[in-house]
Amino acid sequence: MELLLRSPLDMHLHLRQDEMLDVVAPLSAQHFAGAVIMPNLIPPINSLERLLCYTTEVKRAAGDHRFDPYMTLFFRDYTHEELVAAKPFIIGIKLYPAGATTNSESGVSQIMAMEHVYEMMQELDIPLLVHGETHGFVMDREHEFCDVYRNLATRFPRLRITMEHITTEAAVSLLDEFENLRATVTPHHLLLTLDDVVGGLMNPHVFCKPVAKRPEDRAALLAAALLTHPRLMMGSDSAPHPVDRKESSGCAAGIFTAPIILPLLVELFDKHNALEKLQAFVSDNARRLYGVEPPTTTVHLVKEQMTIPMSYGSVVPMWAGRTISWRVAEVS
Ligand code: NCD
Ligand code: ZN
Repeated sequence: MELLLRSPLDMHLHLRQDEMLDVVAPLSAQHFAGAVIMPNLIPPINSLERLLCYTTEVKRAAGDHRFDPYMTLFFRDYTHEELVAAKPFIIGIKLYPAGATTNSESGVSQIMAMEHVYEMMQELDIPLLVHGETHGFVMDREHEFCDVYRNLATRFPRLRITMEHITTEAAVSLLDEFENLRATVTPHHLLLTLDDVVGGLMNPHVFCKPVAKRPEDRAALLAAALLTHPRLMMGSDSAPHPVDRKESSGCAAGIFTAPIILPLLVELFDKHNALEKLQAFVSDNARRLYGVEPPTTTVHLVKEQMTIPMSYGSVVPMWAGRTISWRVAEVS
């Protein structure tokens, strides 16, 4: 059995810097025709100058693969002039509530105090990408944040807002409430619940923000993905950390999936007899929603066993050592 995917896109990806960038960028670029690159570096990518340098670094690290990096700026109180200058070089601006996740300390503390920036982004048609978690109880953070999404979507009806890496049934139903909301969902949130993280021995390699939730949340995400909700896109949130930052007290949040995303998804969609739905979820919806035109590539997957490597450089992937039933045979 085999499957061909055209120009797959990863709409939420962390590539980091320096040696880590050199290890992980080719692992995404070998399978994906493009990816939305997150700006939460140290320091964050919050000026056009830093963005252009980082773009050059990413392209260099991706090597000869046909791969378009879609860059994002880290949200701050930008001026109109800054937004106009940055627009041609970015796909959107990523808003992190201050302290919500890895490297988000300089994020926003009062989200609704930034209305003047959302207003300008709406006028300039620059999408707003959001890490949607409050500072409440960890399992309730995304649910609580839904009021912020409602508020933003109502007050700025022409602002294109992406709810990044949604993990709850509540966020899935929000998609149907507002035309200007869209969402990314990760492969790991389609596969895991909190039980996989802390239900037995604690597994740091599947710990991320937002944490995996309840079985009914996973079921709602999976149903929306299998039906290819027209405003749902695959965004892996592949977020590598060196093994000593994961296997330690104070484990860093982030799951590394970049090299196994497509096999994981094909296996899952195959199990649910929905292989024909995968193309929209991993590429077509994103192309339509963001108006991007990635390089034309074809990824050829075959139903043959693959054992997930124990590590890539200093990074341990999700499900290291596990055997899955599909693999990438060729990219052309
Ligand atoms: C991400 C990271 O490591 O940069 N971590 C994570 O757990 N997902 C940041 C993020 O997207 O929240
Ligand atoms: Zn992320």
